[in-house]
Amino acid sequence: MTDRHLDHGLAERIVAESQDAIIFAGRDGVIRLWNAGAERLFGHAASSAIGQSLELIIPERLRQRHWDGWDRVMATGETKYGTEPLAVPGVRADGSRVSLEFSITILRDGGEIVGIAAILRDVTQRWEQDRALRNRVTELEEAARPEAPSEITA
Ligand code: HEM
Repeated sequence: MTDRHLDHGLAERIVAESQDAIIFAGRDGVIRLWNAGAERLFGHAASSAIGQSLELIIPERLRQRHWDGWDRVMATGETKYGTEPLAVPGVRADGSRVSLEFSITILRDGGEIVGIAAILRDVTQRWEQDRALRNRVTELEEAARPEAPSEITA
């Protein structure tokens, strides 16, 4: 896939230095890879995130849905989030929320699923801009609506 004249470690360097957060978890849902982008995004050092469950970054109320989806993917080998990104809120080390968009990639070894990689991006700013725009549109629509007809009194 890479030009053989390039460094052998090229793919590893791209993962290590990517601005996006890149995470890999084994079948058991335990984090095995956590790049510098993930350290920046979530505020956990790789040394503390690796070995912990993915629940580290999943808000409590979404954990069940996440594991239901996870188990389904492990059982069927298919995901609907390979092409269309999944948009979810995540939790940072300081407890603050972040709006995320991510795609996932199933990793296999000889046909057997060994785990799932995710590439995540912080879209908080875009979400806030979209929300402000939606609110403004609603305000303008309400302002433009003709007055309700006054009651006819015969
Ligand atoms: C902020 C962190 C995360 C949250 C809040 C979250 C939440 C969710 C939710 C709500 C679903 C169900 C979606 C649906 O049924 O439509 C889901 C599914 C899933 N999540 Fe997570 N997740 C997070 C991180 C991750 C990470 C890092 C990975 C992989 C390393 C991952 C792997 C999956 C998989 C494989 C599914 C099933 C997708 C499918 O049905 O095709 N999640 N997650």
